Amino acid sequence: MGILKIVVLISGRGSNLQAIINKCNKKSTPAKIIAVISNNAKASGLKLKGKFDKIAIDNKLNKKEFETELQKNLKKLSPNLICLAGFMKVLSPYIIKRWKNKIINIHPSLLPSFKGLDTHKRVLSEGVKVSGCTIHFVDRSLDGGPIIAQAATIVNKNITAENLMKKILKIEHKLYPEVVHLFAKKKITIKSNKVFIKDEKELNAFIKSI
Ligand code: GRF
Repeated sequence: MGILKIVVLISGRGSNLQAIINKCNKKSTPAKIIAVISNNAKASGLKLKGKFDKIAIDNKLNKKEFETELQKNLKKLSPNLICLAGFMKVLSPYIIKRWKNKIINIHPSLLPSFKGLDTHKRVLSEGVKVSGCTIHFVDRSLDGGPIIAQAATIVNKNITAENLMKKILKIEHKLYPEVVHLFAKKKITIKSNKVFIKDEKELNAFIKSI
């Protein structure tokens, strides 16, 4: 089985990036991060250790220029998978079309509920009882592409948005690497906008164990 070449796009902290790095460092996962690209040169995620290129694209560029630069880098790197991990820019159809079904994202809610920013605050103000995170393919809609995997947790009464964020982030750190592993093992396919997972029972058991 060939090695899955991954590019991770970040804007900040990079804790999901670290979780993916850890997974790729395991022999059992035939995947390799070849580059991390950030729209923020000061992103702490760019300081993480690993044998990959670290590329900062000037955030002051306008959208068209930014994406031309991004596409230039992606074309050179030729990844099999592009993981958005706290990447705060919305990609335009220009990039999404060129990397169709190769871009995935993690969002800290149970999509399609609570798309966009300030998720946990909105979850709490709506009095929602269950929240979680979602990994999905990226399409033209905001946080709206085909869903790959989700993990849920109870929203405890009186929890703060900060603590809910921390609770869900811990789940993200388990789910995202697992999904990357499944891509590396060629167990994820997409047909007519529906995601199919080989050995889905195993993934479900894993999610239950998180
Ligand atoms: C995560 O909560 C992720 O779901 C969201 O942005 C946050 C990124 O955190 N898209 P980190 O940079 O991976 O620590």
